[in-house]
Amino acid sequence: MCGIVGYIGHEPAVSRLLGGLRELEYRGYDSAGIALLQADGLRCFKAVGKLSNLAAKLGDFESCGPVTAIGHTRWATHGKPTEANAHPHGLTHSQVVHNGIIENHVALRAALQTPFLSQTDSEVIVHLFERHLALRTGVEDPALAAFRATLDDLEGAYAILLISETEPGRIFFARKGSPLQLGFAEGGCHFASSDAPLVGLCTEALYLEDGQWGVANAEALILFDALGREVEPSSRLLPATSLAARKEGFRYFMEKEIYEQPRVLADILTGRLRNGAVVLDELGLQWLLPISSVTLCACGTSYHAALAGSYLLERLARVPARVEIASEFRYREPVLDPTGLFVVISQSGETADTLEAIKLAKTQGLATLALCNVDNSSIVREAARTLLLRAGIEKGVASTKAFSAQVLTLWLLALYWGQARGLLAGERHAIELAALNAVRDVMRVQRGTHERIQRLSKRYLHGHGFFFIGRDLFYPLALEGALKLKEISYLHAEGYPAGEMKHGPIALADAELFTIALMARSSLYEKVKSNVEELSAREATIIAISTEQFDLADDLIQIRPYAHPMLEFFEMLVVVQLLAMEIAVRLGNDVDMPRNLAKSVTVE
Ligand code: G6P
Repeated sequence: MCGIVGYIGHEPAVSRLLGGLRELEYRGYDSAGIALLQADGLRCFKAVGKLSNLAAKLGDFESCGPVTAIGHTRWATHGKPTEANAHPHGLTHSQVVHNGIIENHVALRAALQTPFLSQTDSEVIVHLFERHLALRTGVEDPALAAFRATLDDLEGAYAILLISETEPGRIFFARKGSPLQLGFAEGGCHFASSDAPLVGLCTEALYLEDGQWGVANAEALILFDALGREVEPSSRLLPATSLAARKEGFRYFMEKEIYEQPRVLADILTGRLRNGAVVLDELGLQWLLPISSVTLCACGTSYHAALAGSYLLERLARVPARVEIASEFRYREPVLDPTGLFVVISQSGETADTLEAIKLAKTQGLATLALCNVDNSSIVREAARTLLLRAGIEKGVASTKAFSAQVLTLWLLALYWGQARGLLAGERHAIELAALNAVRDVMRVQRGTHERIQRLSKRYLHGHGFFFIGRDLFYPLALEGALKLKEISYLHAEGYPAGEMKHGPIALADAELFTIALMARSSLYEKVKSNVEELSAREATIIAISTEQFDLADDLIQIRPYAHPMLEFFEMLVVVQLLAMEIAVRLGNDVDMPRNLAKSVTVE
């Protein structure tokens, strides 16, 4: 997703900023820009698409002498990836870059009563700053006071860098919910939204805490906490290489992406829980309400999310939902409900079968919606509406955070639709919203759980196969758990509805058949327990994932108790992801780039 860099010093700033932004390219972006303040004034350069377009625009332009500069790669959330929407955003004498989402930007825009150049939420920041600065005459450090007043106006998540012609040699900065760090070196002061751009330039970085803000010059900074009290900055050593920096201390991108899930889920919820209800501005009720049914279509992991989504949509919104594997759907001459909604789910937005499926649905006149992680991808361009997944770029070929983002977004869709149809009120609605608010903490990896999975994994490196079993929502989760394992461990694994085992697969049961039982306390627990007992009676080795002690389990991975099935779902998801990863690690496999697989499958 979006990236930020900044620099104050005497060294050539353009090459530094472009170098820093290149280090952030892997996060994904669709436009970029930089703003530089030198003796001859403030200049801004922006370009849509790759950094090479920005570099081409800059030509051989380079700074000379003292310079204050900020740069940004934007991954569109509010407004299309156009030059006007690219950061930095400027007004008369200031420029700002911003990561995150300003939730109250609509109200702030209305209150400012001034023309805006972009459709972004971020542009309000520079307007607010200049407005506050104009009002603050006769106070000590008016720009710092105006910056503080600006932050007080903002709701939501942000990492912000702001420069102004009135303040050469200073960068105003703030962090709330979106990462930001800075480091000092001989050449001056460097900012970045993650370690990679700082590596090689600084040896230490100051990682801002949530709520911290302040101002820096080339040699020093003043730092405040959320309450405006000055705090002492403290730095930590930076990683030695930029690859290590991109992995942020994790062994694999997959591991980092598993650990990143709480932040992703928080980003997805940002701005979407308003006045005690789920709000999806991208859809609108007028568009959604006439729709009579839904078909969800996808491939691979995204198909598993679709399946989970069908349970949620029928249960919460009472909309008939069917699920299709895109490669099957294309050729089976499907009969579709012309008043129905066709939802495609894709991390990459480029999967050939899914892309053809949405085109087919369009020819039959259905309304279309894409749940996708990449804005401006082929699938997004085909769809009438899009819910972007906000997961940030996913590097591990085996999908993790994109899956949790898909499931959470589908849950929001089901709730939004259920609310619109008047089906969710009172206590039921309150329970759903409380669960949504808890989901971020649920996905935070428990150190003890990870250590236990690491230890257990050594017992499960052989055998003639794994069955992941579950019921209801935990059946799609079983499918996903099995897919994760086979993708990266190359062991045979199947996901199965627990109640179906007796209709065939139970014939395979013996001590070398490893059954991963998803035993959710909140959903059909006794029924799943009976299904597992049947397998245990036939000597199958049982690994139970549950809140409950279960005597017949050979191994138990205990999760925390929750009343809401979605919370059990998300905690179990982390367990199956880690289990697959730790088994693959022990087998010596390339976790991030498993054999024979591609991250984005653009062929049939
Ligand atoms: C490939 C990937 C899977 C992914 C599937 C669908 O097979 O290896 O991880 O689930 O494609 O991709 P999509 O980008 O459409 O979600």
